[in-house]
Amino acid sequence: MDRIEWQSLPSDLHSAVQDELGPIIKVEPTSEGRRSALATVAHLKDGPVFLKGAPIANERAAAQLDREAAVNPHVRSVTPELLCDLTAGGWRLLGFEHVQGRRADYTPGSRDLNAVLDVFATLEHLQLPTTVDVMWFEGRWSDYATVPQHLTQIAGTALLHTDLNPGNVIITGTAARLVDWGMASRGTPLVNPADLVINLIACGHAPTEAEALMAGLDTWKNADPAVLDYYARLLATTWLEAFWTPTHPWARAVVNAAVQWAMHRRHSRH
Ligand SMILES: Nc1ncnc2c1ncn2[C@@H]1O[C@H](COP(=O)(O)OP(=O)(O)OP(=O)(O)O)[C@@H](O)[C@H]1O
Ligand SMILES: [Mg+2]
Repeated sequence: MDRIEWQSLPSDLHSAVQDELGPIIKVEPTSEGRRSALATVAHLKDGPVFLKGAPIANERAAAQLDREAAVNPHVRSVTPELLCDLTAGGWRLLGFEHVQGRRADYTPGSRDLNAVLDVFATLEHLQLPTTVDVMWFEGRWSDYATVPQHLTQIAGTALLHTDLNPGNVIITGTAARLVDWGMASRGTPLVNPADLVINLIACGHAPTEAEALMAGLDTWKNADPAVLDYYARLLATTWLEAFWTPTHPWARAVVNAAVQWAMHRRHSRH
């Protein structure tokens, strides 16, 4: 989705945001991320706020913002606080506490990896009340799985982030923050570390190294190897089919990573 400048948004939205947060002194667009039509830092008298929004006519994007807003109070130990949540001028907009930091470095030997693993250790203890409306993870795959009945293996009630690319992990001086909860889902707990493994492979780790980094996480220790095999295979086959001709280098890297991981699991177990 193409990003839109703050200045070209409807004046009703400008007013609604300033009614809630106070006068905006200046705005700074964010280059990271792609999905949200608006992703910008607004500077206010009391400091910066991160604004993220989409036209309500874009139902998919608006639903992601709804989901992100609903999940926020339950993931506050790993993510910035939601400060404003409004709909105005045909737009849905969320304002978050601004995190001063940079995107995580997932490459081998990166000094960010400890902070990333720490945030995962916190994440695996979080519980999402059943009243919070997020997607069922297995349902997201039902159009793609070759044997849909096998999808029950990845079903569950654990809170899953499901978009763990390094742009969604902000490294501050001492810690990592996990942002962008728009694709939050419920499923089997091993999906969080498994998704991190794929992302680490996409950033240059060998599958064995990426898996070894998960060793301290309970969700990894308790993972059924057969379900990990299944999930690796599901990702590899689905992504290879869906992104046969990926143009974006990151899409190419994750498809390769998924295939590499699935093949690694096959060789190491048979
Ligand atoms: N609270 C925050 N404070 C500072 N920067 C943030 C904050 N939240 C997000 N960002 C930055 O803005 C980028 C875009 O935000 P986010 O990932 O939430 O939206 P997105 O456009 O949906 O991204 P994607 O295309 O990855 O799904 C992030 O990658 C991060 O660099
Ligand atoms: Mg993002």
